[in-house]
Amino acid sequence: MSAGRAPATDSQFLPFDTDEGISPSTGVRVPPSKDLARQAEKKVQRSESDVYRQLLSELHSSAGEEGAGMAVRMADIRRQLTEFQLHYKFGMDEVLTKINVLREEFEHTRDYSPIEHVNYRLKSLDRILDKVQRYGAEPTLESIRHSIRDIAGIRITCSFVSDAYWVAEMLCSQPDLRVVEVKDYIRTPKVNGYQSLHVIVQVPVFLSNRTEFVYVEVQIRTVAMDFWASLEHKIYYTYDGEVPGDILDELRDAAVQAAALDQQMASIRDRVTALKDQAPVSGQGATGPTPRDRATTGAWFPSDDAMGTTWKWEDIAKHAGGPHEAPQS
Ligand code: GTP
Ligand code: MG
Repeated sequence: MSAGRAPATDSQFLPFDTDEGISPSTGVRVPPSKDLARQAEKKVQRSESDVYRQLLSELHSSAGEEGAGMAVRMADIRRQLTEFQLHYKFGMDEVLTKINVLREEFEHTRDYSPIEHVNYRLKSLDRILDKVQRYGAEPTLESIRHSIRDIAGIRITCSFVSDAYWVAEMLCSQPDLRVVEVKDYIRTPKVNGYQSLHVIVQVPVFLSNRTEFVYVEVQIRTVAMDFWASLEHKIYYTYDGEVPGDILDELRDAAVQAAALDQQMASIRDRVTALKDQAPVSGQGATGPTPRDRATTGAWFPSDDAMGTTWKWEDIAKHAGGPHEAPQS
């Protein structure tokens, strides 16, 4: 996605989801079943017509209707599915607009933007049902709405680790976003080496007759972390989850090196920023402000208004699911 492009006009949904094979209990990758016949059978079970049939039985308990009655019901289910998916698109567009506003503001009024790239995707129905099965959740739209929180997913890539936290802080401080859950895999990487910040927010979507609070998962990480994650993802699928031990060791080592590179780049940035007054071009320069400089750069949100407080990552993490708690319906 190029700089400044409005998300609504961007028709490309970049797939990045790697849900398959991540244990819901440990968050660690687990190999998919070796029993290919069973997997193939499961795939067939999840054919589209079955999805409709499954939802049909959940959505309409009255039995015995055939012909025209059935056609009407199928049309109704199709409408409900379209509505369901649209709401996630709307929610994702809302958050993308927020990210775009930050990005454009930085790009047009400052010399530096902490946001390098933005990718996004909507999870397919097939993937949603996969996850429903993995989690043992009920296959109803209502249950899916509450239990699967990454149907809309956005990934933000930043240059520096401090920028990842900075972007998370700017986004999570916005008073209309409810921060439901945060996972800091930068401070505590996964055992395989995976690093990233994961934030699940709820964003209000104002529909014609009501407001829907839609879950959106935002992943924020550095270019180095992103490089590692996309390679690990490809390797994982190349080996169908059965990655040889020596490659896993190399991947863990590569993750350590990626973290070291992030640290080294930050240290270069700090040195260059310290010299910025002597630079031929005035301003913050292409490396942006250090976290220390940012504290004195001024408030990003009106500070005298409680709603406009800029939250620090530690507070966001502490309060996630608390004051911003999801509405019970
Ligand atoms: P899901 O139920 O799979 O969404 O998992 P979770 O909520 O327990 O996990 P988590 O928030 O840790 O991971 C969600 C997403 O992060 C995944 O769908 C991936 O996009 C990404 N992710 C998590 N772990 C890894 C990993 O080890 N490698 C890669 N490449 N991506 C990962
Ligand atoms: Mg996920």
